[in-house]
Amino acid sequence: MSEAPHVPVMLPEVLAALKPGKGQVIADGTFGAGGYTSAILDSGARVLAFDRDLTAIEAGRERFAGHDRLVLIHRSFDTLSEEAAIHAPDGLDGAVFDLGVSSMQLDQSERGFSFMRDGPLDMRMGDGVSAEKVIAELDQNDLKTILWQYGEERRAGQLAAAIVRAREKAPITTTGQLAALAGPQRPKDKIHPATRMFQAIRIFVNDELGQLVRALMAAERSLKPGGRLVVVTFHSLEDRIVKKFLAIASGNEGTGSRHLPEVRRAAPSFILENKKALAASEAEAAENPRARSAKLRAAIRTDADPTLWARDRLQSLGAPSLVFSDLQERWSQHR
Ligand SMILES: C[S@@+](CC[C@H](N)C(=O)[O-])C[C@H]1O[C@@H](n2cnc3c(N)ncnc32)[C@H](O)[C@@H]1O
Repeated sequence: MSEAPHVPVMLPEVLAALKPGKGQVIADGTFGAGGYTSAILDSGARVLAFDRDLTAIEAGRERFAGHDRLVLIHRSFDTLSEEAAIHAPDGLDGAVFDLGVSSMQLDQSERGFSFMRDGPLDMRMGDGVSAEKVIAELDQNDLKTILWQYGEERRAGQLAAAIVRAREKAPITTTGQLAALAGPQRPKDKIHPATRMFQAIRIFVNDELGQLVRALMAAERSLKPGGRLVVVTFHSLEDRIVKKFLAIASGNEGTGSRHLPEVRRAAPSFILENKKALAASEAEAAENPRARSAKLRAAIRTDADPTLWARDRLQSLGAPSLVFSDLQERWSQHR
C-alpha cells in the first residue's frame, strides 16, 4: 500500500504520558497505521480508534482482525464524545491525538497531499470537497486569507493572484501545476516554496484546526477524573491551540491584559503533566525527519466540570479567525 510504512512518532513518550493498562478504555483519535493503537492494546487496554481515512481503517481491520479489545471507527475524531457515550459509557481513561497526515497518505500520489509527487489535486483525508474545487472556485481574496492564516505564507497575496491568473488560462487539476506557481526551490530556500501553500490548502480542505478545537472539547467532556489527554502536534498553529486550550482549562492562563477585570475562575478541569511541550529525542529526530517538528503536550482530567467554551473563550485559543468563519463552515458543510 505504501512505500515507507508510517513510523509512530514519540511512541515511548506517548505511552509514558498516557499510562494505558488493563481494564482501561483509551481513544486513539488518529489510528493511521495503528502504531499507537497496537502499543496501547499490548498494555491490556481496550481501544476506540478513529480515522476519517477509509484506507487506514480497512488496513486496520485486516491487521487486527478478530481483536476483541479494538473498535475501529471510520469517523472524524471530533465525534469522540458521541462514540465514547456508546462504547465507554463510564468515560475514557485516556485520549491521544497524533495530528496531521500519515506517511502512507503523503506517499500515495493519487491522494494529492504532496508537492513532491505529481497527482490529482485532492488532499482529502476523508469525505468533503477536494483541493481542486477549492482552487477552482474560491475568489482571490478568500484564497489569500487561507494562504495567510493557515500557511502563514508571506507571499499569500502574490500566490493567490498567481492561482487566479493561471486558472483563467486552464483549470488547475494537479499538485504539479499548483506547486509550479510557487516557483522552483533555490539553493538558499530552507523549505520548498510550495510547502506553506500546500499546508494551508490541506488544513482548509480538512478543516483540521476546527477538528482539533472540537476534539479537545470532546476529550474534556469524555475523560473520567484521572483520565489522560495526550496530543502530538507538528506545526505552530496546532501547538498554539493545544497549549492555550490546556492553559485555560488548567487555570494557567493570564488575563491577557491588566485592564481587563479579574474573572472568577472555574475550578480547573485539567492539571498539566508538563509545563513545556516535550520534543522527540535527538536519536529519534535523526532517524525520522517527521519527528523533528513534533511537540507533545499532556494533561490529567480533574473531577471539575468541563470549561464553558463560550465564543470569546474560543477566540482566545489563538486559532486563526478563519477556523470559526462562515467560509470554513460553508466549505466543511459540503461534506
Ligand atoms: C500522523 S497519522 C497517525 C499515525 C498513528 N499514530 C500511528 O502510529 O500509526 C494521522 C492519521 O490521523 C488521521 N486523521 C487526521 N485528522 C483526523 C480527524 N480529524 N479525524 C479522524 N482521523 C484523522 C489521518 O487520516 C491519519 O491517518
